[in-house]
Amino acid sequence: MNEIMPKEVIIVGGARPNFMKIAPLIKELKNQNIKYKIIHTGQHYDYNMSKIFFDNLGLPKPDFFLNVGSGTHAVQTANIMIEFEKVIQKERPKLIIVVGDVNSTVACALVAKKLFINIAHIEAGLRSFDVKMPEEINRKLTDQIADYLFVTERSALINLKNEGIDSSKIFFVGNIMIDNLIGNLEKARVYNYYKELDLISGSYGLITIHRPSNVDNKKDLKKVIEILNYIQSKIKLIFPIHPRTRKNLKKFNLEIKLNKPNIILTEPLGYLEFLNLMINAKFILTDSGGIQEEASYLGIPILTLRKNTERPITVEKGTNTLIRNDLNELKMYLDQILLNSYKKGQDIEKWDGKTSQRIVKIIKDKVLKN
Ligand code: UD1
Repeated sequence: MNEIMPKEVIIVGGARPNFMKIAPLIKELKNQNIKYKIIHTGQHYDYNMSKIFFDNLGLPKPDFFLNVGSGTHAVQTANIMIEFEKVIQKERPKLIIVVGDVNSTVACALVAKKLFINIAHIEAGLRSFDVKMPEEINRKLTDQIADYLFVTERSALINLKNEGIDSSKIFFVGNIMIDNLIGNLEKARVYNYYKELDLISGSYGLITIHRPSNVDNKKDLKKVIEILNYIQSKIKLIFPIHPRTRKNLKKFNLEIKLNKPNIILTEPLGYLEFLNLMINAKFILTDSGGIQEEASYLGIPILTLRKNTERPITVEKGTNTLIRNDLNELKMYLDQILLNSYKKGQDIEKWDGKTSQRIVKIIKDKVLKN
């Protein structure tokens, strides 16, 4: 029997916000001659929610595609687990790497743990303290069973300590998504996608809304639309619509209310198109997690339609403000933005483009040497 320990690393990606986190990691694993394979769970499957990111970011084709698709949380999580287990039992990697907080993250971590395979979690320790967010449950459970926890900001160190995680497993490495941003900034800058939409740099707001808390019931979604309608009376808006939001606008018969000359509606966009729109925006209105970080790094004002954030550094040092879904707060901060008196951001510790190097060094020294 072959007794050689496998040295391979398996990287899991499943949903849109995962792909920009695995891209810099893969680049660095390649630089360091570490063998890896990629598993795409298929949680996101539309071209513009998945493959466009592989194309934009120069990611290699996944070695395994699990094709799980959408479903209720239980169905989706269970299907990922069933399919992932089959692959992992054959592959027996030395380490699996999961990123972020989507259903694919927790599903694959759980399977790996029960097969005694080491787990690294990139973006560990972030907490919104709101268990009504499915992501909060995914984060907490993944961190409880992970063996290597890579942290983006100091608040996460405190959260993990409070949850009793052994400090020897925790590494403050910075934000890998910012590595990707830095690596693609020049390409996105010269792309000038905003011009294709007849937008003028610094003269429009960029919108992304997809959280269940904002779009899954009619009352909340109407509130969001009220906010958008107010803003479009002041400045042009571009709104790439996430499939969840699109589905609910249709279900609640609200599409018509967004039919305004000052709002451009599009399908979800690729990485470079979206980054180009971010760089040139006057401000961003979002309920996304990652965009709070990207906008903060870029110094673009960002208003977040949530009452909490698992990324508090973006409010403390970045350009982010939480406005819940309160029209009065929106009006106040929008005025500041339009009058150029809104707060300016500061540099954030270890968001310097070197996070993937730090992570891979730790993996090499602590996991693959044994
Ligand atoms: C998921 C993540 C969320 C992340 C978001 C980014 C979880 C619990 N949530 O939410 O953290 O911010 O991705 O996009 O993992 N759909 C399509 N095409 C696709 C994918 C989805 O049409 O390629 C539709 C389906 O109707 C599906 C719905 O969008 O039911 C929601 O997709 P799902 O993967 O369940 O969650 P997201 O809202 O995308």
